[in-house]
Amino acid sequence: MGLGVAKLLKAHDYRVLTVGLGRSEDTLARIRSAAIESLPSDQELVVQSDYILSIVPPRDALATARRISEACQLPDTAAQRVRIPDLDGLKTRRKPYYFDLNAISPRLTREVGSLLAKGQGDDDEGTLCHFIDGGIIGGPPSQDPGTKAWKKPSIVISGSVDLPPSFHSLSEILNMKLVSPTIGSASTLKLSFAALTKGLTALSILSFSTAQKESVLPELLEHLQQYSPATASLTAKGITGMPPKAYRWVEEMRAIGEAFDTEGDWHGLGESVYGAFAEVYRTVAEDTILGEEKIGKRNRGTTAEDVSDILARRSQRDVAEESAKRRTGLSMGSAMLACVMGNAFTQGIQLASEIGELDAKETPLDRIRIASHPAPLVDRLESQEGRPWQQLVFRPGAGVAKIS
Ligand SMILES: NC(=O)c1ccc[n+]([C@@H]2O[C@H](COP(=O)([O-])OP(=O)(O)OC[C@H]3O[C@@H](n4cnc5c(N)ncnc54)[C@H](OP(=O)(O)O)[C@@H]3O)[C@@H](O)[C@H]2O)c1
Repeated sequence: MGLGVAKLLKAHDYRVLTVGLGRSEDTLARIRSAAIESLPSDQELVVQSDYILSIVPPRDALATARRISEACQLPDTAAQRVRIPDLDGLKTRRKPYYFDLNAISPRLTREVGSLLAKGQGDDDEGTLCHFIDGGIIGGPPSQDPGTKAWKKPSIVISGSVDLPPSFHSLSEILNMKLVSPTIGSASTLKLSFAALTKGLTALSILSFSTAQKESVLPELLEHLQQYSPATASLTAKGITGMPPKAYRWVEEMRAIGEAFDTEGDWHGLGESVYGAFAEVYRTVAEDTILGEEKIGKRNRGTTAEDVSDILARRSQRDVAEESAKRRTGLSMGSAMLACVMGNAFTQGIQLASEIGELDAKETPLDRIRIASHPAPLVDRLESQEGRPWQQLVFRPGAGVAKIS
Protein backbone atom coordinates (compact mmCIF):
# COMPACT_ATOMS: atom_id res chain seq x y z
CA MET A 1 0.00 0.00 0.00
CA GLY A 2 2.82 2.42 0.92
CA LEU A 3 4.38 1.94 -2.51
CA GLY A 4 1.10 2.66 -4.33
CA VAL A 5 0.51 5.83 -2.29
CA ALA A 6 4.11 6.94 -2.92
CA LYS A 7 3.74 6.39 -6.67
CA LEU A 8 0.49 8.36 -6.71
CA LEU A 9 2.12 11.27 -4.88
CA LYS A 10 5.23 11.22 -7.07
CA ALA A 11 3.04 11.25 -10.18
CA HIS A 12 1.66 14.54 -8.81
CA ASP A 13 5.13 16.00 -8.22
CA TYR A 14 5.30 15.50 -4.46
CA ARG A 15 8.67 14.75 -2.92
CA VAL A 16 8.28 11.37 -1.19
CA LEU A 17 10.71 10.33 1.54
CA THR A 18 11.18 7.21 3.63
CA VAL A 19 13.76 5.57 5.88
CA GLY A 20 15.01 2.28 4.40
CA LEU A 21 17.24 1.38 7.32
CA GLY A 22 16.24 -2.00 8.79
CA ARG A 23 13.80 -2.87 6.00
CA SER A 24 13.81 -6.17 4.08
CA GLU A 25 15.43 -6.63 0.66
CA ASP A 26 11.95 -6.79 -0.91
CA THR A 27 11.01 -3.42 0.55
CA LEU A 28 14.36 -1.85 -0.38
CA ALA A 29 13.87 -3.09 -3.95
CA ARG A 30 10.37 -1.52 -4.00
CA ILE A 31 11.82 1.77 -2.69
CA ARG A 32 14.42 1.75 -5.50
CA SER A 33 11.93 0.70 -8.17
CA ALA A 34 9.76 3.72 -7.43
CA ALA A 35 12.76 6.07 -7.05
CA ILE A 36 11.62 7.04 -3.56
CA GLU A 37 14.25 8.98 -1.58
CA SER A 38 15.54 6.94 1.34
CA LEU A 39 16.91 9.09 4.18
CA PRO A 40 19.52 7.86 6.65
CA SER A 41 17.53 8.51 9.84
CA ASP A 42 14.11 9.15 11.34
CA GLN A 43 15.35 12.56 12.42
CA GLU A 44 16.11 13.51 8.80
CA LEU A 45 12.60 12.36 7.86
CA VAL A 46 11.01 14.53 10.54
CA VAL A 47 13.20 17.50 9.65
CA GLN A 48 12.31 17.35 5.95
CA SER A 49 8.63 16.32 6.00
CA ASP A 50 5.45 18.37 6.13
CA TYR A 51 3.16 15.34 6.19
CA ILE A 52 4.03 11.93 7.66
CA LEU A 53 1.85 9.00 6.58
CA SER A 54 2.20 5.88 8.70
CA ILE A 55 1.38 2.86 6.48
CA VAL A 56 2.87 -0.25 8.12
CA PRO A 57 1.55 -3.62 9.31
CA PRO A 58 -0.88 -2.80 12.16
CA ARG A 59 1.33 -4.55 14.74
CA ASP A 60 4.06 -1.97 13.96
CA ALA A 61 1.87 1.15 14.14
CA LEU A 62 2.76 2.03 17.75
CA ALA A 63 6.48 1.34 17.26
CA THR A 64 6.47 3.55 14.17
CA ALA A 65 4.80 6.39 16.09
CA ARG A 66 7.34 5.93 18.88
CA ARG A 67 10.21 6.29 16.38
CA ILE A 68 8.76 9.55 15.07
CA SER A 69 8.05 10.79 18.60
CA GLU A 70 11.67 10.12 19.60
CA ALA A 71 13.02 11.78 16.45
CA CYS A 72 10.85 14.85 17.13
CA GLN A 73 12.29 15.12 20.64
CA LEU A 74 15.96 15.06 19.62
CA PRO A 75 17.55 18.36 20.71
CA ASP A 76 18.16 19.87 17.28
CA THR A 77 15.16 18.52 15.30
CA ALA A 78 12.96 21.58 15.75
CA ALA A 79 15.87 23.93 15.09
CA GLN A 80 16.70 22.15 11.83
CA ARG A 81 13.06 22.10 10.72
CA VAL A 82 12.49 25.83 11.02
CA ARG A 83 15.36 26.50 8.64
CA ILE A 84 13.48 24.80 5.73
CA PRO A 85 10.45 26.52 4.13
CA ASP A 86 7.31 24.39 4.15
CA LEU A 87 4.85 23.42 1.38
CA ASP A 88 2.75 26.49 2.13
CA GLY A 89 5.76 28.76 1.75
CA LEU A 90 5.91 29.61 5.45
CA LYS A 91 9.41 30.51 6.59
CA THR A 92 8.78 29.15 10.07
CA ARG A 93 7.45 25.69 9.45
CA ARG A 94 4.56 24.18 11.30
CA LYS A 95 4.94 20.96 13.19
CA PRO A 96 4.56 17.93 10.90
CA TYR A 97 1.10 16.45 10.38
CA TYR A 98 1.13 12.76 11.34
CA PHE A 99 -1.56 10.55 9.75
CA ASP A 100 -1.90 7.08 11.21
CA LEU A 101 -3.50 5.21 8.30
CA ASN A 102 -3.17 1.72 9.73
CA ALA A 103 -5.95 -0.74 10.53
CA ILE A 104 -5.65 -0.39 14.31
CA SER A 105 -8.25 -0.19 17.07
CA PRO A 106 -9.60 3.20 18.13
CA ARG A 107 -8.00 2.62 21.56
CA LEU A 108 -4.58 2.08 19.98
CA THR A 109 -5.17 5.07 17.71
CA ARG A 110 -5.71 7.24 20.79
CA GLU A 111 -2.54 5.80 22.32
CA VAL A 112 -0.58 6.63 19.16
CA GLY A 113 -2.09 10.11 19.25
CA SER A 114 -1.10 10.72 22.86
CA LEU A 115 2.44 9.55 22.12
CA LEU A 116 2.76 12.22 19.46
CA ALA A 117 0.93 14.80 21.53
CA LYS A 118 3.30 14.38 24.45
CA GLY A 119 6.06 16.87 24.76
CA GLN A 120 6.39 20.09 26.58
CA GLY A 121 2.72 20.34 27.60
CA ASP A 122 -0.83 19.31 26.79
CA ASP A 123 -1.72 22.39 24.76
CA ASP A 124 -1.37 22.40 20.98
CA GLU A 125 1.84 24.41 21.28
CA GLY A 126 3.43 21.65 23.31
CA THR A 127 2.59 18.77 20.98
CA LEU A 128 5.24 17.09 18.84
CA CYS A 129 3.06 16.64 15.76
CA HIS A 130 -0.47 17.40 14.66
CA PHE A 131 -2.19 14.03 14.83
CA ILE A 132 -4.91 12.75 12.48
CA ASP A 133 -6.61 9.35 12.68
CA GLY A 134 -7.12 7.53 9.39
CA GLY A 135 -7.94 4.30 7.62
CA ILE A 136 -7.52 3.07 4.05
CA ILE A 137 -10.50 1.35 2.43
CA GLY A 138 -9.82 -0.44 -0.88
CA GLY A 139 -6.72 -1.71 -2.68
CA PRO A 140 -3.50 0.25 -3.35
CA PRO A 141 -3.59 3.13 -5.88
CA SER A 142 -2.85 1.95 -9.41
CA GLN A 143 -2.62 3.67 -12.77
CA ASP A 144 -4.25 2.36 -15.93
CA PRO A 145 -1.37 2.05 -18.43
CA GLY A 146 -3.63 3.05 -21.31
CA THR A 147 -5.82 5.87 -20.02
CA LYS A 148 -3.32 6.88 -17.28
CA ALA A 149 -6.30 7.29 -14.93
CA TRP A 150 -5.65 6.46 -11.26
CA LYS A 151 -7.77 3.97 -9.36
CA LYS A 152 -7.60 5.05 -5.72
CA PRO A 153 -8.68 3.66 -2.37
CA SER A 154 -10.69 5.88 -0.04
CA ILE A 155 -8.70 7.34 2.85
CA VAL A 156 -11.07 8.25 5.66
CA ILE A 157 -9.72 10.60 8.32
CA SER A 158 -10.94 12.04 11.62
CA GLY A 159 -9.71 14.61 14.10
CA SER A 160 -10.06 18.28 14.84
CA VAL A 161 -6.77 19.69 13.60
CA ASP A 162 -6.63 22.90 11.56
CA LEU A 163 -5.15 21.76 8.28
CA PRO A 164 -3.03 24.13 6.19
CA PRO A 165 -3.93 25.32 2.65
CA SER A 166 -1.56 22.76 1.03
CA PHE A 167 -3.69 19.99 2.52
CA HIS A 168 -6.53 20.70 0.10
CA SER A 169 -4.71 19.41 -3.00
CA LEU A 170 -3.01 16.62 -1.02
CA SER A 171 -6.39 15.34 0.19
CA GLU A 172 -7.82 15.47 -3.32
CA ILE A 173 -4.93 13.51 -4.78
CA LEU A 174 -5.09 10.92 -2.01
CA ASN A 175 -8.91 10.76 -2.08
CA MET A 176 -9.12 11.67 1.62
CA LYS A 177 -12.43 12.33 3.33
CA LEU A 178 -12.92 13.85 6.78
CA VAL A 179 -15.64 11.76 8.44
CA SER A 180 -15.66 13.05 12.02
CA PRO A 181 -13.88 15.46 14.40
CA THR A 182 -13.25 12.57 16.82
CA ILE A 183 -9.96 10.66 16.93
CA GLY A 184 -10.88 6.98 16.66
CA SER A 185 -13.91 7.41 14.39
CA ALA A 186 -11.99 6.92 11.13
CA SER A 187 -10.39 3.75 12.55
CA THR A 188 -13.81 2.50 13.64
CA LEU A 189 -15.17 3.08 10.13
CA LYS A 190 -12.24 1.28 8.52
CA LEU A 191 -12.55 -1.68 10.91
CA SER A 192 -16.33 -1.92 10.53
CA PHE A 193 -15.77 -2.24 6.77
CA ALA A 194 -12.96 -4.80 7.15
CA ALA A 195 -15.07 -6.81 9.63
CA LEU A 196 -17.40 -7.67 6.76
CA THR A 197 -14.90 -8.26 3.94
CA LYS A 198 -12.13 -10.05 5.89
CA GLY A 199 -14.64 -11.66 8.26
CA LEU A 200 -16.31 -13.31 5.26
CA THR A 201 -12.92 -14.53 4.04
CA ALA A 202 -12.21 -16.09 7.46
CA LEU A 203 -15.57 -17.87 7.25
CA SER A 204 -14.70 -19.02 3.70
CA ILE A 205 -11.43 -20.52 4.97
CA LEU A 206 -13.32 -22.57 7.58
CA SER A 207 -16.11 -23.53 5.20
CA PHE A 208 -14.03 -24.36 2.09
CA SER A 209 -11.34 -26.36 3.92
CA THR A 210 -13.98 -28.41 5.76
CA ALA A 211 -15.84 -29.12 2.51
CA GLN A 212 -12.52 -30.07 0.91
CA LYS A 213 -11.72 -32.49 3.72
CA GLU A 214 -15.05 -34.20 3.12
CA SER A 215 -14.41 -34.13 -0.67
CA VAL A 216 -17.46 -31.97 -1.36
CA LEU A 217 -15.75 -28.66 -2.23
CA PRO A 218 -16.72 -28.77 -5.95
CA GLU A 219 -20.34 -29.26 -4.92
CA LEU A 220 -20.15 -26.38 -2.43
CA LEU A 221 -18.75 -24.06 -5.11
CA GLU A 222 -21.38 -25.23 -7.58
CA HIS A 223 -24.22 -24.58 -5.13
CA LEU A 224 -22.85 -21.16 -4.20
CA GLN A 225 -22.67 -20.28 -7.89
CA GLN A 226 -26.25 -21.37 -8.47
CA TYR A 227 -27.99 -20.17 -5.29
CA SER A 228 -25.85 -17.26 -4.11
CA PRO A 229 -23.63 -16.05 -6.99
CA ALA A 230 -22.68 -12.83 -5.17
CA THR A 231 -21.31 -14.91 -2.25
CA ALA A 232 -19.53 -17.23 -4.71
CA SER A 233 -17.72 -14.33 -6.30
CA LEU A 234 -16.84 -12.56 -3.01
CA THR A 235 -15.54 -15.72 -1.32
CA ALA A 236 -13.44 -16.85 -4.31
CA LYS A 237 -11.83 -13.42 -4.63
CA GLY A 238 -11.31 -13.13 -0.87
CA ILE A 239 -9.77 -16.53 -0.27
CA THR A 240 -7.28 -16.36 -3.16
CA GLY A 241 -6.12 -12.81 -2.42
CA MET A 242 -5.72 -13.55 1.29
CA PRO A 243 -2.53 -15.71 1.62
CA PRO A 244 0.16 -12.96 1.50
CA LYS A 245 -1.92 -10.74 3.80
CA ALA A 246 -2.96 -13.35 6.38
CA TYR A 247 -0.06 -12.43 8.72
CA ARG A 248 -1.16 -8.80 8.74
CA TRP A 249 -4.84 -9.62 9.28
CA VAL A 250 -4.18 -11.46 12.56
CA GLU A 251 -3.70 -8.14 14.33
CA GLU A 252 -6.47 -6.50 12.30
CA MET A 253 -9.01 -9.12 13.45
CA ARG A 254 -8.04 -8.47 17.07
CA ALA A 255 -8.42 -4.72 16.46
CA ILE A 256 -11.92 -5.29 15.05
CA GLY A 257 -12.92 -7.36 18.10
CA GLU A 258 -11.60 -4.65 20.41
CA ALA A 259 -13.39 -1.90 18.48
CA PHE A 260 -16.70 -3.78 18.65
CA ASP A 261 -16.30 -4.23 22.41
CA THR A 262 -15.11 -0.73 23.29
CA GLU A 263 -16.91 1.44 20.74
CA GLY A 264 -19.89 -0.85 20.02
CA ASP A 265 -20.43 -2.00 23.65
CA TRP A 266 -20.37 -5.70 22.74
CA HIS A 267 -18.64 -6.50 26.07
CA GLY A 268 -16.28 -9.27 24.97
CA LEU A 269 -18.39 -10.75 22.16
CA GLY A 270 -16.36 -8.84 19.58
CA GLU A 271 -13.17 -10.31 20.97
CA SER A 272 -14.62 -13.85 21.02
CA VAL A 273 -15.72 -13.75 17.40
CA TYR A 274 -12.85 -11.81 15.85
CA GLY A 275 -10.25 -13.32 18.20
CA ALA A 276 -11.27 -16.66 16.66
CA PHE A 277 -10.89 -15.17 13.16
CA ALA A 278 -7.43 -13.91 14.19
CA GLU A 279 -6.57 -17.52 15.03
CA VAL A 280 -7.82 -18.63 11.59
CA TYR A 281 -5.46 -16.16 9.89
CA ARG A 282 -2.60 -17.05 12.26
CA THR A 283 -3.04 -20.69 11.29
CA VAL A 284 -2.85 -19.81 7.58
CA ALA A 285 0.19 -17.55 8.07
CA GLU A 286 2.21 -19.67 10.49
CA ASP A 287 1.16 -23.28 10.04
CA THR A 288 0.92 -23.59 6.25
CA ILE A 289 3.02 -22.79 3.21
CA LEU A 290 0.45 -20.14 2.30
CA GLY A 291 2.22 -17.94 4.85
CA GLU A 292 5.26 -17.80 2.54
CA GLU A 293 3.31 -16.10 -0.24
CA LYS A 294 4.34 -12.55 -1.22
CA ILE A 295 2.31 -9.97 -3.11
CA GLY A 296 3.53 -9.87 -6.72
CA LYS A 297 5.34 -13.23 -6.34
CA ARG A 298 2.51 -15.71 -5.99
CA ASN A 299 3.13 -19.47 -6.16
CA ARG A 300 0.40 -21.24 -4.19
CA GLY A 301 -3.17 -20.52 -3.18
CA THR A 302 -4.20 -18.71 -6.34
CA THR A 303 -7.35 -20.84 -6.67
CA ALA A 304 -10.00 -21.57 -4.05
CA GLU A 305 -9.31 -25.28 -4.56
CA ASP A 306 -5.57 -24.95 -3.81
CA VAL A 307 -6.11 -22.81 -0.67
CA SER A 308 -8.71 -25.31 0.60
CA ASP A 309 -6.50 -28.27 -0.19
CA ILE A 310 -3.48 -26.82 1.64
CA LEU A 311 -5.60 -26.00 4.68
CA ALA A 312 -7.40 -29.34 4.67
CA ARG A 313 -4.08 -31.19 4.60
CA ARG A 314 -2.62 -29.54 7.70
CA SER A 315 -1.00 -32.54 9.34
CA GLN A 316 -2.02 -33.94 12.68
CA ARG A 317 1.48 -33.24 13.99
CA ASP A 318 1.06 -29.50 13.28
CA VAL A 319 -2.29 -29.54 15.03
CA ALA A 320 -0.89 -31.38 18.10
CA GLU A 321 2.03 -28.97 18.41
CA GLU A 322 -0.22 -25.98 18.06
CA SER A 323 -2.67 -27.37 20.57
CA ALA A 324 0.19 -27.99 23.04
CA LYS A 325 1.31 -24.41 22.71
CA ARG A 326 -2.19 -23.07 23.29
CA ARG A 327 -2.94 -25.35 26.22
CA THR A 328 0.35 -24.90 28.06
CA GLY A 329 0.89 -21.28 27.17
CA LEU A 330 4.53 -22.18 26.54
CA SER A 331 6.62 -20.95 23.65
CA MET A 332 6.81 -23.09 20.53
CA GLY A 333 10.19 -24.53 21.54
CA SER A 334 8.88 -25.58 24.94
CA ALA A 335 5.61 -26.86 23.52
CA MET A 336 7.59 -29.03 21.12
CA LEU A 337 9.64 -30.17 24.07
CA ALA A 338 6.40 -31.13 25.79
CA CYS A 339 5.43 -33.22 22.79
CA VAL A 340 8.82 -34.88 22.63
CA MET A 341 9.08 -35.55 26.35
CA GLY A 342 5.80 -37.28 26.95
CA ASN A 343 5.05 -40.72 25.69
CA ALA A 344 1.51 -39.60 26.28
CA PHE A 345 0.50 -36.09 25.30
CA THR A 346 -0.93 -35.16 28.72
CA GLN A 347 2.20 -36.43 30.46
CA GLY A 348 4.23 -34.22 28.12
CA ILE A 349 2.22 -31.19 29.09
CA GLN A 350 2.58 -31.97 32.78
CA LEU A 351 6.35 -32.38 32.42
CA ALA A 352 6.61 -29.19 30.45
CA SER A 353 4.65 -27.20 32.98
CA GLU A 354 6.85 -28.54 35.80
CA ILE A 355 9.95 -27.63 33.84
CA GLY A 356 8.65 -24.22 32.82
CA GLU A 357 9.95 -22.20 29.92
CA LEU A 358 13.11 -23.54 28.38
CA ASP A 359 14.59 -23.97 25.00
CA ALA A 360 15.90 -27.44 24.28
CA LYS A 361 18.72 -26.02 22.20
CA GLU A 362 19.82 -23.39 24.74
CA THR A 363 19.33 -25.07 28.10
CA PRO A 364 22.25 -27.09 29.51
CA LEU A 365 21.11 -30.69 29.59
CA ASP A 366 21.76 -31.20 33.29
CA ARG A 367 19.26 -28.43 34.06
CA ILE A 368 16.38 -30.34 32.52
CA ARG A 369 14.86 -31.82 35.66
CA ILE A 370 11.46 -32.12 37.22
CA ALA A 371 10.49 -32.25 40.88
CA SER A 372 9.53 -35.90 40.82
CA HIS A 373 12.84 -36.83 39.14
CA PRO A 374 15.60 -34.86 40.93
CA ALA A 375 18.38 -36.48 38.89
CA PRO A 376 19.24 -35.01 35.48
CA LEU A 377 16.71 -36.39 33.05
CA VAL A 378 18.34 -36.06 29.71
CA ASP A 379 21.25 -38.05 28.38
CA ARG A 380 21.75 -36.33 25.05
CA LEU A 381 20.05 -34.43 22.27
CA GLU A 382 19.76 -35.95 18.86
CA SER A 383 19.02 -34.10 15.69
CA GLN A 384 16.29 -35.53 13.57
CA GLU A 385 16.42 -35.02 9.89
CA GLY A 386 13.63 -32.85 8.56
CA ARG A 387 12.53 -31.65 12.02
CA PRO A 388 13.11 -28.14 13.33
CA TRP A 389 13.81 -29.33 16.89
CA GLN A 390 16.10 -31.86 18.52
CA GLN A 391 14.91 -35.00 20.20
CA LEU A 392 15.70 -35.49 23.87
CA VAL A 393 17.13 -38.89 24.72
CA PHE A 394 16.51 -39.60 28.39
CA ARG A 395 18.97 -41.18 30.84
CA PRO A 396 18.31 -44.83 31.50
CA GLY A 397 16.16 -45.13 34.63
CA ALA A 398 15.20 -41.47 34.57
CA GLY A 399 11.59 -42.48 34.99
CA VAL A 400 10.34 -41.73 31.52
CA ALA A 401 9.85 -44.98 29.76
CA LYS A 402 9.50 -44.05 26.16
CA ILE A 403 10.16 -41.02 24.08
CA SER A 404 8.35 -40.62 20.79
N1 LIG B 1 -2.63 -3.64 0.93
C1 LIG B 1 -3.87 -3.22 0.96
O1 LIG B 1 -4.67 -3.51 0.06
C2 LIG B 1 -4.35 -2.35 2.12
C3 LIG B 1 -5.67 -1.91 2.08
C4 LIG B 1 -6.13 -1.11 3.09
C5 LIG B 1 -5.28 -0.75 4.13
N2 LIG B 1 -4.00 -1.18 4.14
C6 LIG B 1 -3.16 -0.80 5.30
O2 LIG B 1 -1.84 -0.48 4.91
C7 LIG B 1 -0.93 -0.88 5.95
C8 LIG B 1 0.23 -1.65 5.32
O3 LIG B 1 -0.29 -2.73 4.58
P1 LIG B 1 0.49 -3.31 3.32
O4 LIG B 1 -0.51 -4.08 2.54
O5 LIG B 1 1.25 -2.26 2.63
O6 LIG B 1 1.47 -4.30 4.03
P2 LIG B 1 2.71 -5.07 3.38
O7 LIG B 1 2.53 -5.24 1.92
O8 LIG B 1 2.90 -6.27 4.22
O9 LIG B 1 3.93 -4.06 3.57
C9 LIG B 1 4.25 -3.55 4.81
C10 LIG B 1 5.47 -2.64 4.65
O10 LIG B 1 5.72 -2.04 5.92
C11 LIG B 1 7.11 -2.26 6.22
N3 LIG B 1 7.32 -2.36 7.66
C12 LIG B 1 7.18 -3.46 8.45
N4 LIG B 1 7.47 -3.16 9.70
C13 LIG B 1 7.82 -1.87 9.73
C14 LIG B 1 8.25 -1.01 10.74
N5 LIG B 1 8.35 -1.42 12.00
N6 LIG B 1 8.56 0.27 10.39
C15 LIG B 1 8.45 0.69 9.12
N7 LIG B 1 8.05 -0.09 8.10
C16 LIG B 1 7.72 -1.35 8.42
C17 LIG B 1 7.42 -3.55 5.54
O11 LIG B 1 8.84 -3.64 5.41
P3 LIG B 1 9.60 -5.04 5.54
O12 LIG B 1 9.48 -5.69 4.21
O13 LIG B 1 10.99 -4.64 5.90
O14 LIG B 1 8.92 -5.80 6.64
C18 LIG B 1 6.70 -3.41 4.24
O15 LIG B 1 7.42 -2.63 3.31
C19 LIG B 1 -1.73 -1.71 6.96
O16 LIG B 1 -1.95 -0.99 8.15
C20 LIG B 1 -3.03 -1.97 6.24
O17 LIG B 1 -4.11 -2.03 7.13
C21 LIG B 1 -3.51 -1.98 3.16
